[in-house]
Amino acid sequence: MDSIKEYLEKNKDRFLDELVDLLKIPSISADPAYKGDMLKAADAVKARLLEAGCDMAEVSPTPGHPVVYAEKIIDKNLPTVLVYGHYDVQPPDPLDLWNSPPFEPVIKETKIHPEGAIYARGSCDDKGQMYMHVKALEYMTKNDELPCNVKFMIEGEEEVGSEHLDWFIKENKEKLQNDVILISDTGMISKDTPSITTGLRGLSYVEVEVTGANRDLHSGLYGGAVANPLNILSQMIAQLTDENNHITIPGFYDNVKNLSDEERAKMAEAPFSLKEYKEKLDIKDVHGEKGYSTLERGSIRPTLDVNGMWGGYIGEGAKTVLPSKAYAKISMRLVPNQDWKEITELFKKHFESLAPDSVIVEVKPHHGGYPYVTPIDTIGYQAASAAYEETFGKIPIPQRSGGSIPIVSLFEKELESKIILMGFGLDTDAIHSPNEHFGIWNYLKGIETIPWFYKHFTEMSKK
Ligand code: BES
Ligand code: MN
Ligand code: MN
Repeated sequence: MDSIKEYLEKNKDRFLDELVDLLKIPSISADPAYKGDMLKAADAVKARLLEAGCDMAEVSPTPGHPVVYAEKIIDKNLPTVLVYGHYDVQPPDPLDLWNSPPFEPVIKETKIHPEGAIYARGSCDDKGQMYMHVKALEYMTKNDELPCNVKFMIEGEEEVGSEHLDWFIKENKEKLQNDVILISDTGMISKDTPSITTGLRGLSYVEVEVTGANRDLHSGLYGGAVANPLNILSQMIAQLTDENNHITIPGFYDNVKNLSDEERAKMAEAPFSLKEYKEKLDIKDVHGEKGYSTLERGSIRPTLDVNGMWGGYIGEGAKTVLPSKAYAKISMRLVPNQDWKEITELFKKHFESLAPDSVIVEVKPHHGGYPYVTPIDTIGYQAASAAYEETFGKIPIPQRSGGSIPIVSLFEKELESKIILMGFGLDTDAIHSPNEHFGIWNYLKGIETIPWFYKHFTEMSKK
């Protein structure tokens, strides 16, 4: 297996070029205008999987964007690894904050990435990380190092809630049977502190609409006498948290599984510098729920955030108006054992109860997902840990992440698999933001580490 380093050295320019080609396709799942590019990206992934050595690959239509499925079965008696990833990306907005166009990848050096990083929407989340698995497969098939069976399921709706993947999994349970699910769609602590993600938060995402009068009004003639939906909405949102930054929705915390003091102490051992954290974000101080550390606030505690809020006049100059409507998009990150459907209902009931008679409030649920936490005493985790040890020379730290991949808990439920989250991104990679990038070092390290996972997983499964 030591030949992986040589193989990387020989092929790294091509590995980069191929990723660049994939990043040029604007596969934005949220915007129907990019439907054609979604298909183009799915076809490209399929072609690359076949080139990398899969026996079969197909683009399966769904009522939404297609799923790419591929496999290489070498022996039915050997274990099967199912790789999941997504080829869709977040919309690149706001465009004017990008230093180079989001779908014209460029390589630039940074302080954290002196080897260069590739700047493009989707470079880290998730095309770059997904493509590490395709190239790791190429290495294994071309060098006779594939020790087990492999299946790929690469979807196109992750960034919009994986609405139809649910259906796809239920339809294809047999085909998707596996011994472990391997995903690279998260991050690690730092380049010299490898970590394996052991938890993801769940999500409830809602949109609210507050309506006042039946039309926009002159804010001089009516201001002070008729409700201003923007003022009311702000007041309602302000009431959703208290002075300790606790969420005030009745019942919100009822099912939250609190960590033991021991677990919290273990968590606090992970390397983390509050000073650096603040410096990187240019903030004077952090903010959050009283009684919890920054690491805890961002991973093991639930949250409520306004993601966007609009209404009234936002054009040039000033216009005096009482808007008829105000809107906000609100997300709640959830932790075990919160049920996103229950939380959505609790939110709706509470938010409606906060509305004065002067306005009408409507709460529209978007998507959601369950949280996920994985134990570390499984073969999958141990194999992943051994793989990092081979390539980083260090035992990776298990760490719960604050992000969400809602489909992960469904994998566990429907396919009864354990999921291993081997992420190679860094928090500073600006995923979902302008100037998203992925370190070339991280990309190559991922390709190097993945074959070791296959090797150790297959060996440990035999025992
Ligand atoms: N890959 C991310 C999730 C992620 C990133 C988890 C980093 C842990 C560390 C994924 O593509 C994502 O963005 N998920 C969304 C949820 C989805 C329903 C839109 C999220 O977390 O906001
Ligand atoms: Mn992702
Ligand atoms: Mn994402």
